[in-house]
Amino acid sequence: MAMAKAHGGLHAFINGGVVVFFLLLALPLQTSYVIGHQSQLYSKKLYIVYLGERQHEDADLVTASHHEILTSILGSKDETLKSIVYSYRHGFSGFSARLTQSQAREIAGLPGVLRVAENQIYKTHTTRSWDFLQLGYDNKNGLITEANSNYGEDIIIGVIDTGITPESASFNDSGYGPPPSRWKGICQVGPSFGANSCNRKIVGARWYADDIDNSTLAPTEILSPRDTDGHGTHTASTAGGNIVHNVSFGGIAAGTARGGAPRARLAIYKACWSEAGCSEARLLKAMDDAVHDGVDVLSLSIGGPIENPGSLHVVANGIPVVYAAGNDGPVAQTVENSSPWLLTVAAATMDRSFPVVITLGNKEKFVAQSFVFSEEIASQFSEIQSYTANDCNADQINSTVKGKIVFCFPPLFRPSEQINTSTFLAAVVANGGRGLIWPLYNTDLLLGDNLAELNNTSFVPVDYEIAYRIYQYISNDDNPKAKISLTRTTVGSEVSAPRVAAFSSRGPSSIYPGVLKPDIAAPGVSILAAAPATASFQGIPYHFSSGTSMSCPHVTGIVAVLKSIHPQWSPAALKSAIMTTARTLDNNWMPIQANGYVPKIADPFDYGAGFVDPTKAADPGLIYDISASDYLKFFNCMGGLGPRDNCTTAKGGSLADLNLPSIAIPNLRTFRSAVRTVTNVGQLDDAVYTAFLEPPAGVEMAVEPPVLVFSKDRRVRSFKVTFKTTRKVQGDYTFGSLAWHDGGSHWVRIPIAVRIVNQDDIVYSKIS
Ligand SMILES: *[C@@H]1O[C@H](CO)[C@@H](O)[C@H](O)[C@H]1NC(C)=O
Ligand SMILES: *[C@@H]1O[C@H](CO)[C@@H](O)[C@H](O)[C@H]1NC(C)=O
Ligand SMILES: *[C@@H]1O[C@H](CO)[C@@H](O)[C@H](O)[C@H]1NC(C)=O
Ligand SMILES: *[C@@H]1O[C@H](CO)[C@@H](O)[C@H](O)[C@H]1NC(C)=O
Ligand SMILES: *[C@@H]1O[C@H](CO)[C@@H](O)[C@H](O)[C@H]1NC(C)=O
Ligand SMILES: *[C@@H]1O[C@H](CO)[C@@H](O)[C@H](O)[C@H]1NC(C)=O
Ligand SMILES: *[C@@H]1O[C@H](CO)[C@@H](O)[C@H](O)[C@H]1NC(C)=O
Ligand SMILES: *[C@@H]1O[C@H](CO)[C@@H](O)[C@H](O)[C@H]1NC(C)=O
Repeated sequence: MAMAKAHGGLHAFINGGVVVFFLLLALPLQTSYVIGHQSQLYSKKLYIVYLGERQHEDADLVTASHHEILTSILGSKDETLKSIVYSYRHGFSGFSARLTQSQAREIAGLPGVLRVAENQIYKTHTTRSWDFLQLGYDNKNGLITEANSNYGEDIIIGVIDTGITPESASFNDSGYGPPPSRWKGICQVGPSFGANSCNRKIVGARWYADDIDNSTLAPTEILSPRDTDGHGTHTASTAGGNIVHNVSFGGIAAGTARGGAPRARLAIYKACWSEAGCSEARLLKAMDDAVHDGVDVLSLSIGGPIENPGSLHVVANGIPVVYAAGNDGPVAQTVENSSPWLLTVAAATMDRSFPVVITLGNKEKFVAQSFVFSEEIASQFSEIQSYTANDCNADQINSTVKGKIVFCFPPLFRPSEQINTSTFLAAVVANGGRGLIWPLYNTDLLLGDNLAELNNTSFVPVDYEIAYRIYQYISNDDNPKAKISLTRTTVGSEVSAPRVAAFSSRGPSSIYPGVLKPDIAAPGVSILAAAPATASFQGIPYHFSSGTSMSCPHVTGIVAVLKSIHPQWSPAALKSAIMTTARTLDNNWMPIQANGYVPKIADPFDYGAGFVDPTKAADPGLIYDISASDYLKFFNCMGGLGPRDNCTTAKGGSLADLNLPSIAIPNLRTFRSAVRTVTNVGQLDDAVYTAFLEPPAGVEMAVEPPVLVFSKDRRVRSFKVTFKTTRKVQGDYTFGSLAWHDGGSHWVRIPIAVRIVNQDDIVYSKIS
């Protein structure tokens, strides 16, 4: 089993053997790019105008309609071009523009304009993701406040990973009392990890290597809970790290670092090793210990093809288990850890980016993302040395690249697995190159600290559109040169977010097609969190990483906070609350997009129920609860270890009947029904919920009863959802949703995925 980190995920991608030459559709941003606080230069403010579905197929016509609207208010085409910042025109219609308040009001009154909202400017916070999730320790308006959640006070978060860096300021225990009395764990000492490495923050630590031949361990490994890899320190600090001010990565993304549950305690289980990975034997032992020790939630940023049944027992003990979905997207059926009792987390971007500007000798400019912090690089133009096709090879790099920017562009399609990025970059660094501009079909996957400038060499991945334009420039210029700017940190709704990351693994589950996976998305791109401050981390104690490994501990931190508010909730209830309240719109009120070979509107196989909304999850209204025995029955019916006598005979029937906050029907022939039960956990005993249906295409959907009436004595209500095909074609999955609404603030929404199959077709499915 491998750790699910996309940092280094480049290799995962390249090894994956899926190679698509892809021209990113986004145009170079040089015309509309907004740097930093440029808006302060104007008395006008940036507004987002949302027009809903676009009225034209042709994107240019959509933009023209935006210009028309603006010109009708601003009076001239000139003013319009000065005012507009972005035109949203592909999936739907909208734009952002600099306007006065009265102009914004005028636009809001125009026919066809659905919403006009001022752009949010945020302070740069280091972890940032928690501000984006509005899980703020100063968020007085949300339900989650210091008063009622104590930031996860005394919740014990178990992390099974590569260990911990106890000296990190994120694990400072100043101000903590002794661990809760239910804690029964130990501090397993060893080399570089003494008894005082545990404290009131890191309440316990263990390590597991019994199934490893010690002679095969890398010499850098330490047989103690100490983290030499960095992965475990990063994930633990994201879930439950303390609040640390004045953190940055070489000056970039400066601000405050903190975990989602900054007052929680951490229990560390080092079952993963840099090269030896995380064996099932070790994972099971770590899970077993975690149950024994008394953890309240368990986090595993770990992937693998095998569903680990150990997690069922953890959940049966009332401990929610949060798992990474994997980094093998955007290919379908790549989601891992898809057992129904797990919370399986996809990765998405947040509203922060790290733009650098590439300026060519002909003054053309392109925007990409990287971490460049030395003036040495940014101050001057450098000659470009380009390599093509078979010369794009580390062996070809020699001292002639010194002081130059290396550019590699395959003019023809070629399998990118033949190019080893890390060896190529290392050769450029070793030979004193000033930079490497590297084409990728999607740059999401590299947004970790492996992007960081090293030894005055910058590394800038660019999409193929930009790469092609640079290639054209080089082909037509005798002395091609370029300059790469310092990184700026941009936050706020200028950065349209969240977007599901390209690398995030996608559903449906190949093991359990009847279980909709992943469950939820959370921030997992360019997450800055604690690191070992060793030489291999350039001595910097906070590092960037990207991956579902990084999104997983975000949800773990949220579960910890929810559990401190609702200590009685079961793992299924916590999962239900997180899923049924998820967002499907981004920070500009557009449907959340999914990056991939081609960007598209995200569907439940990209992000499950949507993007996590912790404040709403604290007050979900209704929950879909599941008992440990129901999970066990499911497991046994799926070929598990216990008696199968009560398994439903209908194909997949037992799946449809598990009370999940989602419905997946992989083989709908003519008709299927699913029963669900919801429990009122709202403040009011008397509540009336009405069903709102969004049927998947090709399916007639009904709910019986369509209204649920709750009272003090009737807190639990069941209902039946029926699906009937309206066309007899075999097709892809189509998606819908069912939401229960109480007329007030509660919308309890579950995602639905259905695939219609012909009656005669034999459908391959492991579940039947
Ligand atoms: C690239 O080369 C490095 C060093 O030789 C090696 O560790 C790594 O596995 C290679 N990656 C791929 C994808 O071949
Ligand atoms: C922990 O935090 C306290 C309070 O901010 C500080 O005084 C102390 O030096 C810190 N300890 C370490 C080891 O950084
Ligand atoms: C590896 O070393 C540790 C610590 O010395 C020991 O506990 C463990 O049994 C060893 N494992 C093997 C397979 O030798
Ligand atoms: C952060 O550092 C700056 C200057 O280095 C200092 O002025 C400021 O007080 C520090 N803030 C905190 C919260 O420590
Ligand atoms: C260095 O590399 C360049 C370009 O690949 C090549 O033309 C040159 O011959 C090489 N020089 C040496 C000394 O190997
Ligand atoms: C960076 O430079 C230092 C000092 O010159 C050197 O020791 C180190 O090996 C270099 N790193 C790489 C990756 O070339
Ligand atoms: C990077 O550039 C700075 C400024 O010129 C220089 O002092 C430093 O030694 C360089 N670092 C390396 C590793 O070459
Ligand atoms: C099967 O169902 C019967 C009757 O509902 C029940 O008594 C029995 O415990 C069930 N067995 C299992 C293994 O769930």
